[in-house]
Amino acid sequence: MSDRPIGIFDSGVGGLTVLKEVSRILPSENIIYLGDTARVPYGIRSPETVTRYSFECTEFLLRQDIKLLIVACNTVSAISLKEIQKKVSIPVIGVIEPGARAAVNSTKNRRIGIIGTEATIKSSAYPKAIKALDKDIEVFGLPCPLFVPLVEEDWTDGIIARLVVEKYLKDMIDKGVDTLVLGCTHYPLLKGVIQDVMNNVCLVDSAIETAKVVRDVLKSRESGVSGQGRIKFYVTDSTEKFVNVGERFLQSRIEDIEKITLEVR
Ligand code: DGL
Repeated sequence: MSDRPIGIFDSGVGGLTVLKEVSRILPSENIIYLGDTARVPYGIRSPETVTRYSFECTEFLLRQDIKLLIVACNTVSAISLKEIQKKVSIPVIGVIEPGARAAVNSTKNRRIGIIGTEATIKSSAYPKAIKALDKDIEVFGLPCPLFVPLVEEDWTDGIIARLVVEKYLKDMIDKGVDTLVLGCTHYPLLKGVIQDVMNNVCLVDSAIETAKVVRDVLKSRESGVSGQGRIKFYVTDSTEKFVNVGERFLQSRIEDIEKITLEVR
């Protein structure tokens, strides 16, 4: 496995929440991050388009000789993970299964809420993954499309964030869930407000759960890296915007960044 990099891709800046957790628990790993910023958001697109885009991202990262691929985007993980796994020979880890497993372990009243993009909720990928672990758990899905622009605008606390979160999550409170999966890359940045609004509910952060799975997979394959890993960023649109918003997501500097054009098939 050696010091070949881990590849991570997302529709844009959001997957940096996953990168942050992966580099926190695996600081020696070299990582290549690809954000398809020219075509974000994926969450409003058809499954065919999401799958096509995700193949193009995967092919780019495979050309960088990655040893493991993380699909950080919930929308892509929900729609295209299996097809990506079929195409490649390295391990491919998505964010749905780890989040679903953590939710099942957390719930006491067996009522779980899922929030995500429209495409993620429509796919029913989280309910399917949860019911595969325990078919008697009740799962309630809710798209929260305004959360993504809210986070990118840096309105993650204050009155506007609070009102938007309250408005969306009212139904979820009425359903009496005791566990809520943050099923979108951006939602961990709203954790504070969401927790205030749903104060007795356990929030599951798919980014953290996914990083743990990556650690376990690499441990079993003896990754063998040491020292401080390097992180290289690629984006498909302006690097400036990505750096501005991304440093907030990552809570550290983004230095080694390059704009690329994906090969469109
Ligand atoms: N990264 C996407 C997700 O986690 C959110 C942004 C988008 O719609 O592309 O579903």
